[in-house]
Amino acid sequence: MRELHRVLVHTAVILMLEVLVQGDTQVGCVFGGSCVLPCRFQPNSDTILHWNKINGKDVQVHSYYDDQDQLGHQDPLYKGRTSLFHDQISGGNASLGLSRVNLQDQGRYLCYASTSNNTKDTFVTLTVRAPVSRVDIVLQNNIVTCKSGGIYPRPQLSWSVSPRPATVLQNTTEVHEDGQGLYDISGSLRTVYNDTELTYSCSVQNEHSAKKATMRQHPPMQSAPKSEVLLPCNVSGLDDITWTFNNNQTILRRQAGQEKVVETEWQQHVRNLSESGSLLLYVTSSAQSEGTYRCTLRYADEEDVTHIDLKMIELKILKDPIAERLYSPLGVVLGVVASVILLIIATLLYIKRKDKETQPSPPEVVPLSKVEG
Ligand SMILES: *[C@@H]1O[C@H](CO)[C@@H](O)[C@H](O)[C@H]1NC(C)=O
Ligand SMILES: *[C@@H]1O[C@H](CO)[C@@H](O)[C@H](O)[C@H]1NC(C)=O
Ligand SMILES: *[C@@H]1O[C@H](CO)[C@@H](O)[C@H](O)[C@H]1NC(C)=O
Ligand SMILES: *[C@@H]1O[C@H](CO)[C@@H](O)[C@H](O)[C@H]1NC(C)=O
Ligand SMILES: *[C@@H]1O[C@H](CO)[C@@H](O)[C@H](O)[C@H]1NC(C)=O
Ligand SMILES: *[C@@H]1O[C@H](CO)[C@@H](O)[C@H](O)[C@H]1NC(C)=O
Ligand SMILES: *[C@@H]1O[C@H](CO)[C@@H](O)[C@H](O)[C@H]1NC(C)=O
Repeated sequence: MRELHRVLVHTAVILMLEVLVQGDTQVGCVFGGSCVLPCRFQPNSDTILHWNKINGKDVQVHSYYDDQDQLGHQDPLYKGRTSLFHDQISGGNASLGLSRVNLQDQGRYLCYASTSNNTKDTFVTLTVRAPVSRVDIVLQNNIVTCKSGGIYPRPQLSWSVSPRPATVLQNTTEVHEDGQGLYDISGSLRTVYNDTELTYSCSVQNEHSAKKATMRQHPPMQSAPKSEVLLPCNVSGLDDITWTFNNNQTILRRQAGQEKVVETEWQQHVRNLSESGSLLLYVTSSAQSEGTYRCTLRYADEEDVTHIDLKMIELKILKDPIAERLYSPLGVVLGVVASVILLIIATLLYIKRKDKETQPSPPEVVPLSKVEG
């Protein structure tokens, strides 16, 4: 009889729990942030509150009786991270504030509230999320790499390429779990060898969040030393734009609605930044100016990078029709003839000048500014 009674009670408890599981309040908390686990009770005198975590073994999270917190048996995992809204307990609010949320906090919690004439159990299931905060994209040695980190639950990475390449591009994705249980993800994609402008977009996403980074591979550009070159970029006016050199030096930045800020060491090189974001740059020598220029635009959930490789061309390797003619045999002959003609003209001019110098010089012209002053 006692045995049957026990079985019946047990079954009843299990049934009750199942009903309660369905009725659990679901709370999603952001990793590292704070959140509130809600709980209400019928207020009366002699209030006793216990918050326990009930996955597997019970863990004491926070207790309250005799009108004060009782943290003597609190599990060290929760030390200094929990709080009740003391001023609202008398109104029946037993909600628990939890700060610096981590992945171990995930699970099922029981809020037990007892007063002189009543007791109540409330169950709360807590899940933690760490959204994708940013995605970095780089192009190096014909491989586009995309990275993001500190994500939970496990993210996925996908590529899209435009214009659509004729073949499947070789690509890999790696996911690592860090010491805190968050995920780091990186992916790489072999680019198409092509002189056209191509865009590679990488999306990192999980159930709760998504971010995208796009790499626009501009066809390589060439420039002669000591000249101006216009590096193109295409923004819609309101964007936050940054120009960088060799992936590690900032040239300038213009935040939406503000004046551009040029780094000191680039001030002599930056000639203009157009409304659309194109950079007019004065380039000096191969050693100083050759490399990769990146224009990065940032929107809410996207980063858009234009990648331009700039090569400096010295005159002797100029692959230019005029230069080729100059160095062809005929070009050499023409060149010699031209030089001789120039020499003759120069000599004639020199003789003429010499003649002029012997004549009296014209009266001195007074500069305009002097007249005005
Ligand atoms: C309890 O009080 C806190 C603080 O004012 C509030 O954020 C929370 O929503 C309240 N919870 C309930 C269940 O009333
Ligand atoms: C407990 O007491 C309060 C008032 O003191 C009353 O409103 C409430 O209905 C009582 N609850 C039960 C279960 O008796
Ligand atoms: C990346 O690799 C997978 C598997 O090999 C392939 O299905 C996919 O099309 C590739 N992505 C691109 C953009 O080529
Ligand atoms: C380069 O791109 C153009 C247009 O996007 C395409 O017609 C051509 O086949 C591509 N060449 C190679 C080698 O992929
Ligand atoms: C600039 O971008 C806009 C869309 O953002 C596009 O319509 C336009 O064709 C682009 N211009 C150039 C020169 O790429
Ligand atoms: C920046 O990158 C270039 C090549 O990518 C490298 O040679 C240089 O040492 C780097 N400079 C710094 C300060 O990291
Ligand atoms: C410089 O950029 C401004 C817009 O920012 C443009 O109005 C101006 O025409 C540019 N000047 C030159 C010389 O390109």
